[in-house]
Amino acid sequence: MAAGVANTVWDMGEPKTSELMETLASLCKRRGFIFQSSEIYGGLNGFWDYGPLGTELKRNIKDYWWRSMTRLREGVVGLDASIIMHPRIWEASGHTSTFSDLMVDCLLTQRRFRADQIEAQSGTAYFYTGATEPGTGKECKDPFSALIATGKHPGYARELARKFYQLRGLKEPVLEGERSEPVQNTTRYNPENGSLLTEPRAFNLMLKTSVGPVESADNVSYLRPETAQAIFVQFKNVLEVSRQRLPFGICQIGKAFRNEINPRNFTFRSREFEQMELEFFIRPDEAVEAVCGRVAKPASPGHPGKPQPDWGWQLWHQYWVEERLGFYESIGLPRASLVEYWQKPEELAHYARATVDVLYKFPFSKRGPNGELLGEELEGIAARSDFDLSQHQRFAGRPMTVFDEELKAVWPKLDPAKQAELSERFFQHRLKYLLKTGEAPGPAEQSARQDAEALAKGYYIPHVIEPSAGVDRLALALICNAYSQDQAPDEKGKLETRVVMRFHPRIAPIKVAVFPLLKNKPELVQKAGEVRDLLRPWMSVFYDEAGAIGRRYRRQDEAGTPFGVTVDFDTLGEKGPELKDTVTLRDRDTMKQERVKIADLAPRLTALIR
Ligand code: GAP
Repeated sequence: MAAGVANTVWDMGEPKTSELMETLASLCKRRGFIFQSSEIYGGLNGFWDYGPLGTELKRNIKDYWWRSMTRLREGVVGLDASIIMHPRIWEASGHTSTFSDLMVDCLLTQRRFRADQIEAQSGTAYFYTGATEPGTGKECKDPFSALIATGKHPGYARELARKFYQLRGLKEPVLEGERSEPVQNTTRYNPENGSLLTEPRAFNLMLKTSVGPVESADNVSYLRPETAQAIFVQFKNVLEVSRQRLPFGICQIGKAFRNEINPRNFTFRSREFEQMELEFFIRPDEAVEAVCGRVAKPASPGHPGKPQPDWGWQLWHQYWVEERLGFYESIGLPRASLVEYWQKPEELAHYARATVDVLYKFPFSKRGPNGELLGEELEGIAARSDFDLSQHQRFAGRPMTVFDEELKAVWPKLDPAKQAELSERFFQHRLKYLLKTGEAPGPAEQSARQDAEALAKGYYIPHVIEPSAGVDRLALALICNAYSQDQAPDEKGKLETRVVMRFHPRIAPIKVAVFPLLKNKPELVQKAGEVRDLLRPWMSVFYDEAGAIGRRYRRQDEAGTPFGVTVDFDTLGEKGPELKDTVTLRDRDTMKQERVKIADLAPRLTALIR
C-alpha cells in the first residue's frame, strides 16, 4: 500500500476479527492506551484502566463532547451529580424491577451466559431421567440433557451426563432413561460443551452497596447504572437556578456501573464505564400546537436545520440524531463506518416513542448476509415522552411541572373546538401513562383530567429527548478506526511497514511532538525546549530527543500524534538568516514536511486541533 493511504478497520473486507482485536489490545497495552484493571492480581473481568495515552484520548472525547453540547449552543447547561443516590430513584426509574438480563448457567461448569447471546444450534439431544450408584444405592432423580452433533458417537453425551451426576455426589453413576431426538435451532445448550443450560432467570444488573456503618436491608444503595436519572431528579433545581425556558437541556458526564453477565469485546461491554448524556426538555406537542397553531413534522430525512418554535418531538428527535451523527463525523468516524438504526416498535422501551441507535462497525460486529459489518451501539437517541419526570413526580410526591407563560396567554384565545381537541389528546396521553403505572381506572381518569385542566393554565410536565453515549465505547471505536498500516521508507530509504493511529487531531492524545534533530548539540536541544515550552500552554506536547529522527517519528505515528516539529541547524540560522527561527512541521498521515516560522506554530496548530 502506498504511503499515506489508510487501510481502515471497518472497510477491510473480512479480516480475522479475533486477530485484529488481539493486535489492537496488544498495541493498547504496549503504547499505554488501555490496561487490564488489577493486572498484577490476575485482572478483574469487566474493568479497565486507561494509561497515559488512553487518559488523554478519553479526556479529549469528553472535553469535545462537553464543548459541542453545552458551550457552543444556547440553552444547555451541565450537572455533576453523585454516583450513589436515594434508592427510591431506581424504583421510580424502573431499574429495580426491570433492569435485568435473562441469564442461563451451564449445568456442568456453572458458567453464566446472557440468554440472548446463545447461538442457535442443531444436532441430537440426549435425555436422561436420572442416575444410580449400584455400589451404594445412592440415586439422583435430576433430569439432564446434552446436545451433540448429529452422527457423533453418543459416548460423548454419556460422558457429559456422568459428569453431571458425579457433581451431584454419585462417584460411579449408572445413567437411567436415555432417549434421543434430533433438535433444530435450540438455544438451550452450552455452545462450548453441549451441556444443558438452566432455565432463563432474570438477573438485575445494578451493583449493590450499603451506605453507612451497618449493613442491612434498610441501607442498600446502588452504584448508578446510568447518569440520566440524576438529571431528572435535579431538573427543577437546575431549571430555577439557570433561569432557562423550554426547550432546554441538562447534560452530564460520569461513571456508570452495570454488573454485566458477560463483559466482552475488550472494553465494549464493561462493568464500570462512563456515559455522556443529555436530557433535552421540550414542550409536549399539544402545547406547541396551542402556541404555534401547528406542529411541524419531519419533511425529509437529514438535518432539519435551525430549531424552530413549531417543532414537535419528532423534529427535535430528528435534529438530535443528525447533530450526534455530525459529532461523530467531526472527530473522524466517517459516515460509512456508522449505522443509523431505528429501533422497531417491538424493540422500543414501553415509554419510548422512537429510539435511534448510532452503531459503529467494530471489527467484532455481527455480519449481514453479504458479509457486511452490521455495527454495535455507540449511542442511543430516545424520545422518552414525559415518562421519567412523571415517575419522579409520583414517587417523590413533588411537582415536576413547568409554567409556560406563552401557553397560558394563548390558551383563552383558542377556538373552543381546538381547546377541546388539544385537551382531549393531552388527557388521553396522561391517562395511558397512569394506567400503565397500575393506577385504577377511576383515580387515573381523575388525575389525567386534572393534568389536562392544568395544561389550559400553562402547566405541564416537559417531554424529553435523550442522546446517551458511552465514552469508553467511543474511545474503542476511535482506536479501531485510527488503526492502520502503510509502507514508509526507513532511514536508508528501504520501505518498511508503518503502524499509524490516524486519530483526528481534535481527539489525538498528543497533538504535537517536538524533536531536536540531534541530542548531542546543546543549541538544538535548547531551542527545541523553547519550542516545547511555547506550545505547552495550548496543547499536549511530547518532547523526544532519544534515537534516530526516523525512529522518533515512527513512535509518534503509533501513538497517533498528528504533528511533528523538528528543530534543525536551519532553525539556528546556520544556512542563512532567512531560515532562522523556522522548523520543519511534519504531517503524520502524508509524512510531508514544510518549513514554518516558530512564531506561527501555536496559532496554526491550535486552529487544526480545535
Ligand atoms: N440513559 C439511557 C441509557 O443509559 P443505554 O443504551 O443503556 O441507555 C447508553 O446506555 C450508552 O452507554 C450506550 O449506548 C453505550 O455507549 C454505553 N454503555 C451502556 N452499557 C455499557 C457497558 N456495559 N459498557 C460500556 N458502555 C456501555
